[in-house]
Amino acid sequence: MRIAMFGATGYGGTEAMRLLCERTDVEVAWLGSDRLAGCPVAEALPQFAGTAMGELRFSPQQEARELSQVDVALLALPHGEARMLVPTLLQQGIRVIDFSGDFRLPDDVYAAWYGSELGAYDGPSPVYGLPEVYREAIVGAQLVANPGCYATCAELALLPLVESGLALTDRLMIDAKSGVSGAGKKPSSGTHFVEVQESVRAYKVGAHQHTPEIEQVLAATVRRRRPCANDEMDATADAPVQVLLTTQLLPVKRGIYLTAYVPLKEEMSAETLQSLYEERYREEPFVRINPYGASAEMRHVIGTNLCEISVHLDRRTQTALIVATIDNLGKGAAGQAIQNLNVMFGRSETLGLSMLPWM
Ligand SMILES: NC(=O)c1ccc[n+]([C@@H]2O[C@H](COP(=O)([O-])OP(=O)(O)OC[C@H]3O[C@@H](n4cnc5c(N)ncnc54)[C@H](OP(=O)(O)O)[C@@H]3O)[C@@H](O)[C@H]2O)c1
Repeated sequence: MRIAMFGATGYGGTEAMRLLCERTDVEVAWLGSDRLAGCPVAEALPQFAGTAMGELRFSPQQEARELSQVDVALLALPHGEARMLVPTLLQQGIRVIDFSGDFRLPDDVYAAWYGSELGAYDGPSPVYGLPEVYREAIVGAQLVANPGCYATCAELALLPLVESGLALTDRLMIDAKSGVSGAGKKPSSGTHFVEVQESVRAYKVGAHQHTPEIEQVLAATVRRRRPCANDEMDATADAPVQVLLTTQLLPVKRGIYLTAYVPLKEEMSAETLQSLYEERYREEPFVRINPYGASAEMRHVIGTNLCEISVHLDRRTQTALIVATIDNLGKGAAGQAIQNLNVMFGRSETLGLSMLPWM
């Protein structure tokens, strides 16, 4: 399988290169960067010196119009860029995995939350790249919209309770924190070292663009929900899904750590809550449910494609507190993209993704 990587110099792109570096079943044949076009890869990214990828030179994005013998393109570009490139790639028979938000939402919802209009697109429908829900559709997809980092973590944290019909979904509260690489490599006054070190700051409160993405996935979950015991009596089955999301910047390079507060429709024991999560993810290679009470910890997932979850029950308020953590560049971006690639091309889903955390 031959791969073209767009946005290779950015955090998401470089992480995908790292994950693909030792694979013998794929060849990363083309690495895109307008800014560094012509530059040897190992010169700009010395960590790839001595590898096949390090021997390549960066190519300008315009070469996307005529990429020879490429099976799949990974696009790790800023929002808006993929919309312009994807039709050209699909016309050449190249399958696409896009890291951006360009294909995750209806265009009007995108415009409302991202604050810009997307170019028109009338190609094959994108498939949302969360294998834990959409695995079957990903297999045959021409275009996969890789989920957002906060969205991945929040959706995995909430899915079992929403699917089971046991959650009140009209006011799901999520308190989420991310390492600074989530903001991309381009420096900004709000993300440089002195601004973030030894501090925590909330940003885009109630306005983060992953909010409608989470609501969309959970609303689809409610619609196809597995029946629960008291389904006939369930007056809230069609209740809207509304998410309140507070995102915060942590003074670390990588990692997402979030707590979802889920009001329950009826009394539940801690054992039932724990087994609900264990059952839902029993077959999932990248979702780990901790023993009850053992809090999820960010360092357990950094450098991996794992999502670690711990569940907690607040009996007094009948609220489930779900703590979840991922690496924003792993399961939140490049790791999940490689997982999707494996699914799309019939490889073992865990191929190249079985690494242990760094710490
Ligand atoms: N960072 C994360 O944790 C994360 C998680 C999930 C999804 N994503 C999404 O993945 C995509 C890439 O994110 P990232 O964090 O890897 O970004 P990044 O570090 O800022 O890298 C962006 C890359 O895009 C290239 N590029 C092409 N056209 C560009 C343009 N017009 N302006 C700026 N850069 C341009 C840059 O290449 P040159 O400068 O070399 O030309 C660079 O390699 C984004 O859509 C992001 O939302 C990121």
